Amino acid sequence: MGHAVWSAQKFISDESSAVLLGDDIVRAERPGLKQLIDEYEKTEKSVIGVQTVPDGETNRYGIIDPLDQDGRLYRVNNFVEKPELGQQPSNLAIMGRYILNPEIMSFLGQHKIGAGNEIQLTDAIQMLNEKESVYAYDFKGRRYDVGEIMGFLKTMIEMSMEREDLKDELIDFMTELLNKEIVTR
Ligand code: G1P
Repeated sequence: MGHAVWSAQKFISDESSAVLLGDDIVRAERPGLKQLIDEYEKTEKSVIGVQTVPDGETNRYGIIDPLDQDGRLYRVNNFVEKPELGQQPSNLAIMGRYILNPEIMSFLGQHKIGAGNEIQLTDAIQMLNEKESVYAYDFKGRRYDVGEIMGFLKTMIEMSMEREDLKDELIDFMTELLNKEIVTR
């Protein structure tokens, strides 16, 4: 992912930019990215969207080690990509929404290999954080993970059930499947 973001360098030049990971869907009254933009406008520092995850899931995410907190905004000691379970500095996980200052590109350009043998955006963010503060913001809203199979299926079903044009047919289909399942068991 670090390499993918770095590849966008020519489109960014000296401006700050947003990164949105497509497998993280956020539904919120004020959109997740807008919440980050509002924070960026106050500090003009890079800001990363985070939310709390359960203990057993911290190894799937970039995790922050918070320094201190002002409401939902955190200053951060360290951004760590996929720490081992039990080694996580907190349960605040990066949730696929970033506002980054253009200086991030010089760190991504080092092509440093990190967790999982990949060039990690999280590592470049920590390098930037050591030069100028990078904030984390615990944004409001519900996040859906469509990057894993059950998350994808649950999201499709939940969102379809909210649509009047899909709901009845989906219920009929699911009922039919459930009845078949009961008969064959
Ligand atoms: C990526 C990031 C990770 C972040 C996660 C959010 O991981 O590297 O820091 O917490 O997205 O979904 P991936 O899902 O590509 O393993």
